[in-house]
Amino acid sequence: MKIGIIGAGNIGGNLARRLTALGHEVAIANSRGPETLAAFAAETGARAVTAEEAPQGADLVIVTIPTVRVPDLPKGLFDGVPASVPVIDTNNYYPQQRDGRIAEIEDGLPESAWTERQIGRPVVKAFNGTYAQDLIDRARPAGAPDRLALPVAGDDPAAKRIVRDLIDELGFDTVDSGPIAESWRQQPGTPVYGLREGVDGVTKALAAASPDRPADFRA
Ligand SMILES: NC(=O)c1ccc[n+]([C@@H]2O[C@H](COP(=O)([O-])OP(=O)(O)OC[C@H]3O[C@@H](n4cnc5c(N)ncnc54)[C@H](OP(=O)(O)O)[C@@H]3O)[C@@H](O)[C@H]2O)c1
Repeated sequence: MKIGIIGAGNIGGNLARRLTALGHEVAIANSRGPETLAAFAAETGARAVTAEEAPQGADLVIVTIPTVRVPDLPKGLFDGVPASVPVIDTNNYYPQQRDGRIAEIEDGLPESAWTERQIGRPVVKAFNGTYAQDLIDRARPAGAPDRLALPVAGDDPAAKRIVRDLIDELGFDTVDSGPIAESWRQQPGTPVYGLREGVDGVTKALAAASPDRPADFRA
């Protein structure tokens, strides 16, 4: 697949490493410009591009930047990108440590629904509770007894299927965690966030989640 990644930090970097190794064609962007990603491009074979360029021609796009930076993304970022191209949102809202107060999220809007409003595009929520290093260290073949499962939320079944198949290829099981309106089930502070378990454990943790944000994750 042709995969555009916006964000080249812990998560974007490790996803690019794994996806290029699997043979995918990755275009990756940060905020400072492609010239600052030259060493990373040489290491991985990913193409360093601008954020504007990353989604163009992609079969799948991953947005993996601090939530507070989402409104800085270029306007019209997805112009000309077919609606069938899934956009993965890996982001978390960390008001106290990083993002400051975002009123709509504080008022109960799921983080990924807020992101959708900012970028003008539906998203599939995935990887947000996954330790970046686990993408490298914890990949396992299908059927392995210690294979981890990741929750995936989204409204478009076709987009979700593409994302779940890609995660399987990356070495993880998935659990459908419902629509974006219920994606609070996998936000920071929930039982599934950072959980390293398989399908059964993740399914139980999703069911046990509360829509109320814990104090640590409120502004
Ligand atoms: N770290 C984890 O293990 C982990 C796990 C799951 C989810 N997450 C979530 O995933 C997101 C990314 O986390 P991270 O740890 O990978 O972050 P990070 O290491 O801080 O990297 C952030 C990346 O986003 C880029 N960026 C920021 N603003 C941008 C913009 N306007 N346009 C293009 N690129 C931009 C940065 O580029 P510059 O350096 O050039 O500014 C940097 O490459 C966060 O929302 C985080 O909460 C993280």
